[in-house]
Amino acid sequence: MAQEIFDKVNALLAEIENAAPSSNEEVEQFRIRFLGAKNVLKPLFGEIRNIPNERKKEFGQLVNSVKQSAEAKFQALKSQADEADEAADAGNLDMTAPGEPLSVGSRHPVSIITNRIVETFSRIGFTVAQDREIEDDWHNFTALNTPEDHPARDMQDTYYLMDDPEKLLRTHTSSVQIRTMENTKPPIRTIFPGRVYRNETISARAHCQFHQVEGLYIDENVSFADLKQTIEYFSKEMFGHNTKIRLRPSFFPFTEPSAEVDISCFICGGEGCNVCKYTSWVEIGGCGMVDPNVLENCGIDSKKYTGFAFGMGVERIAMLKYRINDIRLLFENDVRFLNQFTSAF
Ligand code: PHE
Repeated sequence: MAQEIFDKVNALLAEIENAAPSSNEEVEQFRIRFLGAKNVLKPLFGEIRNIPNERKKEFGQLVNSVKQSAEAKFQALKSQADEADEAADAGNLDMTAPGEPLSVGSRHPVSIITNRIVETFSRIGFTVAQDREIEDDWHNFTALNTPEDHPARDMQDTYYLMDDPEKLLRTHTSSVQIRTMENTKPPIRTIFPGRVYRNETISARAHCQFHQVEGLYIDENVSFADLKQTIEYFSKEMFGHNTKIRLRPSFFPFTEPSAEVDISCFICGGEGCNVCKYTSWVEIGGCGMVDPNVLENCGIDSKKYTGFAFGMGVERIAMLKYRINDIRLLFENDVRFLNQFTSAF
């Protein structure tokens, strides 16, 4: 009796070893027979009570080894079948099938706004220039009429390079004004887009890196009226033709007189809302007439030439235009955020 059961188990073992299914379907039949919920090995465990005590251990080990062989065989058969499938697919490659769709991506909102600013100024004859982000003290501060120990430096603390304390990350694009005036003879009519850095605690409204677009116009007889007209033209192009501007007296060491540029709130149209904080005006940048000292620092005759400069924050404009309430979103590169912007608005 016991021997019969042993023979049955050994027969199953041989069946497993010799199994050679030739299709996925036969592999599945193998799995159901030996590993499925109602597999043929299950009743064998119940047979143990018919085995004499001295052979119980031997029988248990044998049944377990049958189970392990079935599992190992099934894994081997499955990987063989997968390989065969792949080979068959390769043979059937359909060259006319449509390709995998490529996702095209979209421009970063900071790029969209920068391009729009550049485009707007190029229509009134401004060229574009860019320069380095690692600057020296002269171009970022001293030549801009901000000597060491000038309190205005406190407002623009930045990052210095360990290897060379003279080098710093520029705090504004005004450094490119200096580089341009050092290398070009007036007339100069250029805008300078670029990234700038400040030692700021990062929050929803401030970041240690951001972008500016600077403008510089130097020629004979350039007046404050030209500055005002230029800012007005830009604001209407950018924010809509009903936009008004307000030049609020301010101070920058490198311009005299200086002003902050405010535009009438294009969201509430002057009614008052949380974007303009119920003042009807929003600030977009600073401007002024280039200080004669700055012209002289760059070898330009301040008796003959005058000029204006302005600088605006690109993130600030992007946040206003797109109603983005946290500047950090612009630097996290989360595609779920970035995918929402298209060039047109
Ligand atoms: N550089 C100034 C700033 O970053 C802005 C500015 C540029 C002001 C040009 C006047 C003229 O705050």
